Amino acid sequence: MGDNPGSRLRTPAGMTHEPDQTRIRMTNTASHPNKTFPPGPPTPLFGLLLAQELVANALGAVQRLQREHGDVLYFRILQESFYYLFSPEQIRTAIVERADDHIRHERAIDVFTQIYGANVLTTEGEAWKRQRRILMPGFLPKKVAGYLGLMTAATNDNLASWFTQGKGESITIDVGNFTRKVTVDVILRVLFSHQTSETDSFRALEATLTLEHQSMRELYWPKTPPDWMPYPGRTAKLRAKDVLQKLISDRIAVRRAGRASRSEGDDNTDYLAMLLSAQDDEAQNKSAATLSNDEIRDNCMVIFAAGHDTTATALTWWIALMAQHSEYASKVRQEIAEVLGERMPAAEDFAKLNWLNATLKEALRLYPPAPLLFVRRVTQDITLGEWTIPKGSNLSVPVWHVHHDARWFPEPDTFQPERFLPGAPDIPRGAYLPFGTGPRVCIGQHFAMMEMALIAALLIRAFDFTPTDDAGMPKPKIAMVLQPERALRINFTRR
Ligand code: HEM
Repeated sequence: MGDNPGSRLRTPAGMTHEPDQTRIRMTNTASHPNKTFPPGPPTPLFGLLLAQELVANALGAVQRLQREHGDVLYFRILQESFYYLFSPEQIRTAIVERADDHIRHERAIDVFTQIYGANVLTTEGEAWKRQRRILMPGFLPKKVAGYLGLMTAATNDNLASWFTQGKGESITIDVGNFTRKVTVDVILRVLFSHQTSETDSFRALEATLTLEHQSMRELYWPKTPPDWMPYPGRTAKLRAKDVLQKLISDRIAVRRAGRASRSEGDDNTDYLAMLLSAQDDEAQNKSAATLSNDEIRDNCMVIFAAGHDTTATALTWWIALMAQHSEYASKVRQEIAEVLGERMPAAEDFAKLNWLNATLKEALRLYPPAPLLFVRRVTQDITLGEWTIPKGSNLSVPVWHVHHDARWFPEPDTFQPERFLPGAPDIPRGAYLPFGTGPRVCIGQHFAMMEMALIAALLIRAFDFTPTDDAGMPKPKIAMVLQPERALRINFTRR
């Protein structure tokens, strides 16, 4: 999922974070000359120096600003006003209670609509509500449990093709490449039941990487030119979009024609089957009650795009953490041995895997794949205590910073999965947001948690993970998702 696609000033690839343990000031001290605004840094040269700092090191810069100015941060760059919220309570007020008073930032939406069409991610208002109602049944926990067979098949195929070594033997892999490939195959299998050929799967992977790279680039432009005009990246973008659209449209056409091969899986259980039969009970007329072919294609496009990179990066960080913290890896393995033995997991098993879930949740806390929620454009003044965020402002929720705040997570930079074990002290509502919150919370969160638990369980049962050097955890950098600054190479030794 995109991190902060609304802001052209804060999302370039290559930004890194310097961990900073200094305590964050808990009170707002007005340092902005105008007392009607929340505290914020001075912004000489129309804020361009600050913009430069944010571009060079978004995580570190925002951490510094929070430390210096407190929980509601305000600054101006050129003609735009930016507000950042760091307190869980205010985040909930703005994002949950005042959800109708902001929309996703229009620049991000323009970029994503051009690529992925009008879907649940890119629409607002009634159009979004209708799509979300139609799509939601396919993401309810019970329905997601029905995808487990498809997910397991895709995972096992990848384990067989990536790891051919015998017991006790090691191979070193680039973990990011592996997790991206396996999550692409999982999402394609769940969407279409179809075992995508290796060629199609690699083409789809390549196409999404191209589109992600291009969207990051275009977010910095004031406007994307029309497709008939030449512009940087245009040809590759249109080709990649075409690859994905064709792959998806072909599957829809096959299914509509009733020619889907039953031998490829039970297509009544896949996501496309759900989309084709979905009905919106609240629709005003018959044509609005179902999704058109284009709407189905565009929603498959966005589910494909939103559904694999986030999960892949979360798994990459989790594997790196398990390699660094073998004591926790042992606990997870022991639990898996007790609950599963050698069999494949059933959906009801996952709730029993407390250590596995706790390590995954802690990985999502330390390294949230979406380190900033989509930037919002405020459409009605929002009052938060003594401050009012005026209509027209940009509103940001810096998830990574909230997750690294010692007030909600003591020793915030250390890996402590115990925080998420049953019986651990409560985490304040609004302080843990890997999937966002409010009506636009990630539609795929149950899907993602089950998929990650499945892949993680099958991997850790079969392999010991060890780091290839003493460098420790890589620093995170913000790209479309929060990625390791350098490729993560880990030794996988078959148990
Ligand atoms: C670890 C994995 C994942 C993370 C961390 C994640 C995170 C997020 C976040 C933070 C948002 C936006 C919230 C906001 O701006 O308010 C979001 C939205 C969304 N996610 Fe995920 N996501 C993950 C996996 C998935 C999966 C597996 C799917 C689909 C199969 C998915 C589909 C979507 C969609 C369609 C939206 C837009 C929902 C809407 O606007 O109504 N995500 N996700």
